[in-house]
Amino acid sequence: MATKNHDIKDPTLAVAGKLRIEWAYREMPVVKLIRQRFSIEKPLKGVRISACLHVTTETANLALTLKEGGADVIVCASNPLSTQDDVAAALVEYDIPANAIRGEDEETYYKHINTALDHEPQLTVDDGADLVTTLHTKRSDLISNVIGGTEETTTGVIRLRSMEKAGKLKYPLIAVNDAQTKYLFDNRYGTGQSTIDGVTRATNILWAGKKVVVCGYGWCGHGIALRAKGLGSQVIVTEVEPVRALEAVMDGYQVMPLLEAAGVGDIFITTTGDKNVIDKAHLQVMKDGAILANSGHFNVEINIPALESLAHSKRRVRPFVDEYTLSNGRHLYLLGEGRLINLAAAEGHPASVMDMSFANQALCLEYMVKNSGMLKPKVYSVPEEIDKQIARLKLSSMGIDIDSLSPEQKEYLTSWEEGT
Ligand SMILES: NC(=O)c1ccc[n+]([C@@H]2O[C@H](COP(=O)([O-])OP(=O)(O)OC[C@H]3O[C@@H](n4cnc5c(N)ncnc54)[C@H](O)[C@@H]3O)[C@@H](O)[C@H]2O)c1
Repeated sequence: MATKNHDIKDPTLAVAGKLRIEWAYREMPVVKLIRQRFSIEKPLKGVRISACLHVTTETANLALTLKEGGADVIVCASNPLSTQDDVAAALVEYDIPANAIRGEDEETYYKHINTALDHEPQLTVDDGADLVTTLHTKRSDLISNVIGGTEETTTGVIRLRSMEKAGKLKYPLIAVNDAQTKYLFDNRYGTGQSTIDGVTRATNILWAGKKVVVCGYGWCGHGIALRAKGLGSQVIVTEVEPVRALEAVMDGYQVMPLLEAAGVGDIFITTTGDKNVIDKAHLQVMKDGAILANSGHFNVEINIPALESLAHSKRRVRPFVDEYTLSNGRHLYLLGEGRLINLAAAEGHPASVMDMSFANQALCLEYMVKNSGMLKPKVYSVPEEIDKQIARLKLSSMGIDIDSLSPEQKEYLTSWEEGT
């Protein structure tokens, strides 16, 4: 249903969406505490926010929190295949315009980003930097309104840092991804669990005994490898960074070049933020029946044009599973059109990890407003105090207490005089 400022698939899905948003909120105690404070203090009063995020139940809870803080929020999708249409419908009922339809084509995807920009944001929230780059390249007349913004994911932070380096970044942004309470949990445990969930829902395969090739041993790769191993798979890691490769070896995985792994793997999962990681040469030597999935931000990690060129036929055999029959007679199965499989075929990260990621988002947006005009057009880290505060709140929501340093220990840890 399209109106001037929202565009969703079906407004009647709102009832189901609201129930799911409520369900996720139960697992978001830190966001809940922030929402309670925001509702009293209204730190974002009257601030226009354009948020380009995966439209999931957790995102809805962030948007509702920002609204409770007084903000005027509009939402658009950060990926064509990650939108939960019931959530988009519920957002509209909550008076938060949503511009997101699952499976939208590229033209609609950018139309939705442009509608979010028509809101003339003072703050931007992005996941992958498509909104920020569109604002800088095609809608630069709107930049003078902007106080600042936040970026949710590794790939977005990489893009913003290269904009900063090229002198093209025009307003301050905080790299939410780089907070410890984000990447150590969201990227590792969130992507780990939900990627396995996405592949399972798409294929219903048994993981035990499978050879799973994880391309990229960053934080997402750590999580995926760990969870696949836990389910009984033999995990092979491929890397280009020697330290990470060494870490994978000592974590108990086999490490080898992808060309070697290509011939033995049953399931391949990319999570590098890089392009053409699985390329033509790898596809040519894969076993009959090999499954290919991606959990990195963009659908460029598996060279899909190369796969298309090697195939003489293609058919959809299950939702999210495309079977490619190659000229050599083998079948390869591409999941979710190479888009992040945890959001395409499953529901994305569990709410409990998004609780911390989105607590970072809410507190960083508040920080931006408080420090309006004082920050330079560069990529900032999440202030350490925010990171620590979120960890403390999460621990306390789990009923876990920790020790604190005694005055003697504090002094010892900041001095150099004492030795053996
Ligand atoms: N699916 C999700 O929900 C989700 C969540 C968080 C992040 N992400 C995305 O996942 C991707 C990875 O994120 P991360 O935080 O793990 O990044 P990271 O930077 O920690 O790790 C990426 C790793 O990939 C390696 N790499 C790069 N090119 C490679 C190649 N050709 N072959 C093998 N390894 C290669 C790098 O050396 C690095 O170790 C990014 O695109 C990020 O935006 C997705």
